Amino acid sequence: GLYAAIGWFKAPKCVIAAMEYVTISASSWALRSDMRFKELLPSATSRRSWSFSVPGSLRCMATGIPFWSGRKAEKPQSRVDSMPMRNSKEESQQAAHGGVRTVVVPAAGMGTRFLPATKTVPKELLPVVDTPGIELIAEEAADLGAERLVIVVAPQKQEIMDHFGEFNVLQKRLLNRGKEEQAEKVSRANELIDAVAVTQESPLGLGHAVGCAEPALDAEEDAVAVMLPDDLVLPIGVMDKMVRVREEFGGSVLCAFNVTPDEVYNYGVFDVEDAERDIEGVEVKKVRGMVEKPAKEEAPSTLVATGRYLLDRAVFDALGRIEPGKGGELQLTDAIELMIQEGHPVHVVVHRGKRHDLGNPGGYIPANVDFGLRDEKYGPALYPALKEILAEFEAEHPEVLEREQQG
Ligand code: UTP
Repeated sequence: GLYAAIGWFKAPKCVIAAMEYVTISASSWALRSDMRFKELLPSATSRRSWSFSVPGSLRCMATGIPFWSGRKAEKPQSRVDSMPMRNSKEESQQAAHGGVRTVVVPAAGMGTRFLPATKTVPKELLPVVDTPGIELIAEEAADLGAERLVIVVAPQKQEIMDHFGEFNVLQKRLLNRGKEEQAEKVSRANELIDAVAVTQESPLGLGHAVGCAEPALDAEEDAVAVMLPDDLVLPIGVMDKMVRVREEFGGSVLCAFNVTPDEVYNYGVFDVEDAERDIEGVEVKKVRGMVEKPAKEEAPSTLVATGRYLLDRAVFDALGRIEPGKGGELQLTDAIELMIQEGHPVHVVVHRGKRHDLGNPGGYIPANVDFGLRDEKYGPALYPALKEILAEFEAEHPEVLEREQQG
């Protein structure tokens, strides 16, 4: 209203820009000074405590967006409907969410494999076709029936929360121009689910990031889901199966993916045995242990960890007791390994679909091709374009075809 009034009096553009700057800075300062979780003890391995005072969704809304106002619209149809190999909407609606209220999304990493893009753009905001990875995760969480997303962000990556804010001016502008589809895309992230920010002051590892989320949980939440925003597990719905396994066996449930023996060195690998009982429609194994990035000969199986975890609240206690592991970071897998050693039941759901690792260009590019080909708007043109690119490449590099023929 203020900007409109100024505009009406034909104030010079620089005055409007200055006011906008002050508004953005003030709201962003208020947000930043308010939202930090402070690590009160110096050592990463010592027990931690945090201050947590203002409801996170408020912070999320205030993040540097000068025009926010208005009320939440009805939840739109999830965009994951167009994900490749997705379960049908009916299937996912039938699946019980089994009381998972909070999904934690660690997004405070440095994204070094995506430099130089990640100098200024958080990798979680890089788009798959046109939608940031973190919004796809928000859709998966909403589809599970979760009520809120606790996003762990770094101090310099707060713009991730901006994505979940309201953009009323932009939306109105789009609607005035008859761009309903684009207006719907703008509001989707905000309407999907309540997004709450917690700050991880320094990137001390995935385990540390998950630990930062504990104060944001309600007292009665005895389990928490963790979804890594750079890991797309398709078709979505594996977390529904994991909830069923926890209902049956208790403890914590992870998601396993089968890779070739040559690929195991890249992953956390599960040592498994048959589960106590079968669960209809779910391939489930009991976990005896985990080995982080083993050599091919030392791998106990070819079942590797993916970015979906359903963790008993006991994980926070275990996270407080582990030492920094690989890369000097507090590793989530080390906390899970400690829990297994102490008799905590851990099972895996073996996922037979596919996954895309959005965390590095080598996985991000195929994900875009996969989603792009299935996209109503871009797919039809992308298919012949890709064929042409492939034909041209094969003509320039006949050796790739020879290699392929040799197997
Ligand atoms: P990754 O190891 O894939 O992300 O962690 P990264 O550290 O950002 O990437 P590289 O290795 O430097 O390229 C998986 C997820 O955990 C988050 C990341 O943001 C990513 O979404 N993470 C990782 C944290 O939130 N905090 C950390 O300290 C480490």
